[in-house]
Amino acid sequence: MAKLVVANWKSNKTKAEVSSWLKQFLAALSPVSVEVVLAPPFVFIDFISRLMVSFSYLKLAVQDLSPYPAGSYTGAISAVNLKGLQVEYAIVGHSERRRWFHETNNDVALKVEQALANQLKPIVCVDDDTMVGLAGKLAENVWRNCIIAYEPSGAIGTGMGQDVGLVEQAVKKIHGYFGRVKVLYGGSVDERNINEYLLVSDGVLVGNDSLAVNQFLQLLKAIK
Ligand code: PGA
Repeated sequence: MAKLVVANWKSNKTKAEVSSWLKQFLAALSPVSVEVVLAPPFVFIDFISRLMVSFSYLKLAVQDLSPYPAGSYTGAISAVNLKGLQVEYAIVGHSERRRWFHETNNDVALKVEQALANQLKPIVCVDDDTMVGLAGKLAENVWRNCIIAYEPSGAIGTGMGQDVGLVEQAVKKIHGYFGRVKVLYGGSVDERNINEYLLVSDGVLVGNDSLAVNQFLQLLKAIK
C-alpha cells in the first residue's frame, strides 16, 4: 500500500488562495509514489473535489467531524453531510481540537464511530498522553479500520520534529494499544526530514509545509 502524505491546511486560506494553490499544484505535480491527501477547511471541499477528479493519487480529507449523526446540531458538519463529495478520510482528535475546543477521548471515539458508519476512514490523532486512554474507548476490531496519527504536541508547528527513534518507539506502542493499524507521524515534517519519518511510519501529516504550494511540491519531490 502506498504511504500517505496528508496536507492539513487547518483554518488557513481564502477561496482565491485555494484556487491558485490548486491550479499551480495540479499543473506541476507529476505522478508520485505516495497517496496525497488534501485536508482543506470544510467550505472548500466541494470546490476542490471538482478539480481533482482525474488525479487518482489525490484524495480528500476533512479536518474534523461532528460526533453526532445528521440531525438538529446547528453548526456541526456530520458525516452524512459529506456524502457525494468524494471525501475518503476524516482527521479526528487533532491536538488543536483538544486544546482550543476542549475535545475529550469520548468525543473522539464518537467521531470515529460516525466516520466508520458513513464509509469515511478515520485518521485518529494521538500523542504519548492520549493514546492509552483513547485506545480503551473502542474495541480492537473498530481500531482495525482506522489510521492512527502519532502527533507529539511539542513537535506540531514548532519546526522541531520529534526524534525519529522516539517516533519508531511510539509506532510500536501504538501497535500494542490499537493493534496492527497504519501509523502516520505528524509534527514539523519538511522536505529535509520526510524520508526519515517515512522509513518508520506509513505516512506523514504536514501542516505548515503544505501551505505554500511550491514548498509542498518540493516536499513531495524530495520523497525517495
Ligand atoms: P506542522 O503541523 O506540520 O505545522 O507541525 C502538523 C499537524 O498539525 O498535523
